[in-house]
Amino acid sequence: MLSIQESADEKLSMPMPKLEISDIQAIVLRPRPSPYRGEYVILRVNDAAQGREMVRRIIAHVAPADEWWVPSLPGWLGIAFTYAGLKALGVPQASLDSFPIEFKQGMAARAAILHDFGENAPSHWEYPFGTADMHIALAIYANDEKNLDLVLDRARQSQLDLPKISLVYRMQFGQLPEGRNPFGFKDGLHNPVIEGSGAEAIHDNAGGETPVKPGEFVLGYPDQVGEIATAPIPEELRHNGTFVAFRKFHMNVAAFRKYLRSQASSAEEEELIAAKMFGRWRSGAPLVLAPERDDPALGSDRKRNNEFSYADDMKGLNCPFSAHIRRVNPRDALKNDIVDVNLHKFLRRGTNYGQPLPEGVLEDDGAERGGVFLLIGAHQQRQFEFVQSQWVTDGNFISHGTEQDPILGNSEGDGVFTIPKKPVRRRLRGLPRFVTVRGGEYCFLPGLRALRWLAALNS
Ligand code: HEM
Repeated sequence: MLSIQESADEKLSMPMPKLEISDIQAIVLRPRPSPYRGEYVILRVNDAAQGREMVRRIIAHVAPADEWWVPSLPGWLGIAFTYAGLKALGVPQASLDSFPIEFKQGMAARAAILHDFGENAPSHWEYPFGTADMHIALAIYANDEKNLDLVLDRARQSQLDLPKISLVYRMQFGQLPEGRNPFGFKDGLHNPVIEGSGAEAIHDNAGGETPVKPGEFVLGYPDQVGEIATAPIPEELRHNGTFVAFRKFHMNVAAFRKYLRSQASSAEEEELIAAKMFGRWRSGAPLVLAPERDDPALGSDRKRNNEFSYADDMKGLNCPFSAHIRRVNPRDALKNDIVDVNLHKFLRRGTNYGQPLPEGVLEDDGAERGGVFLLIGAHQQRQFEFVQSQWVTDGNFISHGTEQDPILGNSEGDGVFTIPKKPVRRRLRGLPRFVTVRGGEYCFLPGLRALRWLAALNS
C-alpha cells in the first residue's frame, strides 16, 4: 500500500490541467491596475428571485481572468457571496451544508480562532460586518475615475427596478503616491506563482519559491496534496470558484511614527527599526538583500525585489524572524521543521483607503485611513486562518513565545519585538496597536458558469 506521501506524489506526477481562465473571475488572478481607483459595495438580498435577477444581469460585466497578465483592462468588477447571501438567493440546503465550516460560521464567529480580541473584536466592527445583512460583495477596480464611474454605473443598472436589493455599505479606495501604504511602505510586491496559470513563463520574480499547485487557489484542480476538492456541491457551483477572506484595517500612522521616534536616536535608526518590523525598506527593497540601508533601485526592480530566500539569514541578523513578511511567508526559513509553507499561501489583493497623514506629523488627526485585504484561497482554514492564528498572533513557531507580528499583533502597549543582533539581540518593548480590524468576512467567489447556475436556480 502507498504511504500518504507516495500517494500524493503519484497524483501530483500526473500532468497538471490548465486553468480555465475564461471561467475564473479576473479578481482571483489579475493584479489591481496601477494607478488604481475603486469601490467595494455590499448588498443585501431581501427577495430570492430579485437577487437572482440581479446576478443574471450583472454576469455580463464580471470580468474573466483571460490574459490576466496584460495590464490593459480599464476597469472590472468581481462578485462574491457570503453564506447568508447564498441562502438568500435560494441555494438548496444540501449545497449550503456542504460548504466549509469557516464560511458557514462567518468571520465574526471565528474571532477566538483568529485572535480578534480587544479593539479587533467583532463587537467593534463597522456595520454590516459580522451581521447577517452582508449578502453580496462587489469589488470594482479601475485605472481612473472615469472608468470607475462606468463600471459603477453597470453595477447600478443591474439593480434597477429591484427594490428588494438594498445597498448596505460602500467604500472607496485608491492608490496613494508611489504605490505606498499609509505607513509609507510600497505594497503589492509579492504573490505566489500558480502552476498552470501561465505565470511561470512570464513571472520573473519567483524568488526561488516553488510554484504552488492551482487547487490551492481555485476549486477543480489538484492542490498541494494532490487532492481535487469534492465540496461544496454541486460541481456546477464549485468548479473554478474559490474563497476570499476580506479584512478591513485602520492604520494608526501617528502611533507608528511616535513609537519609532521613541526607540531611535536618529532618523536613520528610525528607518532601520521600521524596516526590521516589515522585513523590507519603505522602497520595497528586502532586508535580506539590503541589510544596512535602503536601496530604492532594488525596491522598484520587479525582477530582483522578490529574488531572495532566508537560507543565508538563518539567525535573522538581516531580517528578524518576527518581521511581518518573514512571519506571513517564511519562504525557506522553516526548512528544518516539518512545514510545507505552500500549504499556507494565498493570493493577496490589497487596496488602500483614506488620505495619507502628512509627512512628519506625529499626532493622530482622527482620519480613517488604512487598507482592505482580499486573501484568496480554496482552503481558508489552513491558509488565512492558520497564518493569522499561528504565525501572526503567536511566536511559538519561531521560539518567540507570545511575541506577535509587530504590525498586525494585538498589542495594547505591551507588545514585544525582537531584533537579532551581534553581540546581543535588541528587544523593543511597549509596542502599541498600529493596526485595528474594522471588519471582515468570508465570501465565495464563483466561476462565471457557476454565476449563471446561481442566476438560473428555481427557473
Ligand atoms: C494593515 C495590515 C497590513 C499591512 C500594513 C501589511 C503590509 C505589508 C507590506 C508592506 C508587505 C511587503 C510588500 C508586499 O509584498 O506587498 C507585505 C507583505 C505580505 N503581507 Fe502584509 N500587511 C498587512 C496585512 C496582512 C495580512 C492580514 C496578511 C495575512 C494574514 C498579510 C500577508 C502578507 C504576505 C503573505 C506578504 C508577502 C510576504 C513575502 O514577501 O514573502 N499581510 N505586507
